[in-house]
Amino acid sequence: MNIPEFTKSKNQKKLTMVTCYDASFAAALQKTEVDAVLVGDSVAMVVYGHSDTVSATVPMISAHVAAVRSKYKGLIVGDLPFLAAQKSQTDFIEDVRALMSAGANAVKLEGVDGLETKVSSLVQAGVPVMGHVGLTPQFVNLFGGFRVQGRTAEAEKLIFEQALKLQELGCFSVVLECVPEGLAKKTTEALRVPTIGIGAGVSTDGQILVLQDMLGLSDLNLKFVKKYDNLKDRTINAVNAYCADVQKKNFPKIENTFV
Ligand code: KIV
Repeated sequence: MNIPEFTKSKNQKKLTMVTCYDASFAAALQKTEVDAVLVGDSVAMVVYGHSDTVSATVPMISAHVAAVRSKYKGLIVGDLPFLAAQKSQTDFIEDVRALMSAGANAVKLEGVDGLETKVSSLVQAGVPVMGHVGLTPQFVNLFGGFRVQGRTAEAEKLIFEQALKLQELGCFSVVLECVPEGLAKKTTEALRVPTIGIGAGVSTDGQILVLQDMLGLSDLNLKFVKKYDNLKDRTINAVNAYCADVQKKNFPKIENTFV
C-alpha cells in the first residue's frame, strides 16, 4: 500500500498497523495483511528497556528502519523522536533525510502547536507526514505519566482542533492515542484523512499496536491491548526444552551433526 492508497482507504476499509524494529519480525510481517509498519520511538522502551521514549534518537530509529526495510517491502513510517522537531530547520531536515534514506516512506511526529512550519515544510518538500495527538508519549513528563488525554471539555477541544490542524497542514493521517471513544469518533468523522487509533476505541479509521505487546512479549498489561499470543511463555518453554535436551544429550542429534 502506498500513501495515496492509505489515505483513500478512509470509509473503505479499516487500516491496520503494527510497530516493528527488526529484520526477523519484518520478514514475518511481509507475509501478513498488515497495511503499514511504524518504526516507532517505542523502540527505546521495547528494545532498549528504557522506561519511556524520551531517550530515542534519530540514529537509533534510522538503524531500526534500515533493519525493517531489509525484509519488509510495504509502507514504513519512521518516528521523529523527542526534540527532533525543535532543532533548526537544517538539522531537522537532515534528521528526516536520515529516516527516509534508511527506508522510511513517511515520518510521524508528535504534537502540532509550534510545529506548524516544520510540518508544512516537510509536506511541501514531498515528505508524507503522519500526525500524532492525544497521549503523545514524548510529553510524558509534562503529562505526569502515561494517562488518557482529552477527558475535560477543554482538553477534548484542544485535541480535536490539533487533529484538524494537522490535516490542514497536509498530514496524510493522524494517530489518536489514549483518548476517550467519543472524542475519537467525533475527530474521525470530522477529518478527511484516516485516523489511526491506539487506546481510542473502535471508531477510528484504523488501529495500531506495538507488536511485542500484542504478541505477549512485554510485561505490560494495558487495557487497550489485546494479546494475540503469549510469545514470552512460548520462548521460555522453548529455551528450557533446549536446555533439557542438551543435558540429556538429546541435542544435537545425528541430523544436526557434521560427520
Ligand atoms: O512509537 C510508537 O510505538 C508509537 C505508537 C504508540 C503509535 O508512536
